[in-house]
Amino acid sequence: MGRVENKIALVTGAAQGLGAATAHLLADEGASVVLTDINAAGAAEYAAVINSTGPDVLNWEEIDVPDPGEGEARIRHSAIGLNFIDIYHRTGLYPVELPTGLGSEAAGVVEAVGKDDSGMKAGDRVVYAGGSADAYAEIRNVSTSQVVPIPDGITDELAAAVFLKGLTAWYLLRRSYPVQEGDTILLYAAAGGVGSLASQWARHLGATVIGVVSTDEKGELARAQGCEHIVMADDADLPKTVRDFTGGEGVAAVYDSVGRDTFIASLDCLRPHGTMVTFGNSSGPVDPVAPAELAKRGSLYLTRPILFHFIDTRDRLLRASKELFDVVANGAVNIRIGQTYALKDAALAHRDLEARKTTGSTVLLP
Ligand SMILES: NC(=O)c1ccc[n+]([C@@H]2O[C@H](COP(=O)([O-])OP(=O)(O)OC[C@H]3O[C@@H](n4cnc5c(N)ncnc54)[C@H](OP(=O)(O)O)[C@@H]3O)[C@@H](O)[C@H]2O)c1
Repeated sequence: MGRVENKIALVTGAAQGLGAATAHLLADEGASVVLTDINAAGAAEYAAVINSTGPDVLNWEEIDVPDPGEGEARIRHSAIGLNFIDIYHRTGLYPVELPTGLGSEAAGVVEAVGKDDSGMKAGDRVVYAGGSADAYAEIRNVSTSQVVPIPDGITDELAAAVFLKGLTAWYLLRRSYPVQEGDTILLYAAAGGVGSLASQWARHLGATVIGVVSTDEKGELARAQGCEHIVMADDADLPKTVRDFTGGEGVAAVYDSVGRDTFIASLDCLRPHGTMVTFGNSSGPVDPVAPAELAKRGSLYLTRPILFHFIDTRDRLLRASKELFDVVANGAVNIRIGQTYALKDAALAHRDLEARKTTGSTVLLP
């Protein structure tokens, strides 16, 4: 299998032998994604697994899922949310213990519950975010403390599309910098997963949203989702364009998921005492910054938040989930699934997300 190592490949599990996958790889040297007729027997369970980090390390392997332990539920996934954090895990930007699965959110049906007093039972439709990165699987065990019932009226696919990204939009707009009615804010990747939800939610809260996107098509989507103004990502003087939309003042907050490439320009978009929320690394992690950079631009505030610190207790998770499902139920926030992939095509989904080809949420289907 030496030739397989440097490709993104979804290969058969050991039980089925690696010969078929090898044959496909040899037959298609240039292909980035290789599929085999995995799970043909229908009996075993499979998951996408990485044994090393890097760009091309995704394998499709047979897994053995034990009965759920104390405080755990076994969930058969029906839809898995694709998130940029999956790329950080796969590439090693966020260190992971190897070998590992991938994936931080999924929806599905509870098959069995271990010793537990949560009230969860077989047949419940549930969604979760976080825990170990093992969501790219047909089935797994999850701590019941992380699992939330899916409200009636929301399909499993929509739940997987909205949960992690919607909770992120929630804490960004309600906690990191609580948006006030009348604020003007700047939001990057406004047509993406988090961005599509956050732009609608921010408008619902009474903000004027300036969305940054890379294409005209994404600009149209962002406008339809509540962005009043659009700035192109390659704007040579993005801070000036943004300031012009605010009568020269600058925005109350920037929600910057791009990271390294945009950090300084984002600071330059803020009004005095404005808040810089840098919450992602899609272009790479932000370089170290001197506090004086905040002082000289008007005593700015800087925060680098992570979702899981805002849903770190059962109570906080349930409150946040309720707020999220409420804005979905009342129509303030629509969930847009831009594309779906078979779970076995997770490697292709990663490539498309990294290449900025996706819009809205992406769902992997087992
Ligand atoms: N800290 C947290 O708690 C937290 C939680 C969830 C997500 N996030 C972050 O939120 C961001 C969005 O996540 P998502 O899963 O919803 O992804 P996404 O927004 O659907 O996809 C990423 C988008 O980022 C934009 N982008 C700008 N520069 C890019 C680059 N160099 N490479 C790739 N994309 C680039 C692209 O939009 P354009 O082409 O329009 O520019 C792309 O479509 C990610 O940075 C993620 O890490 C953070």
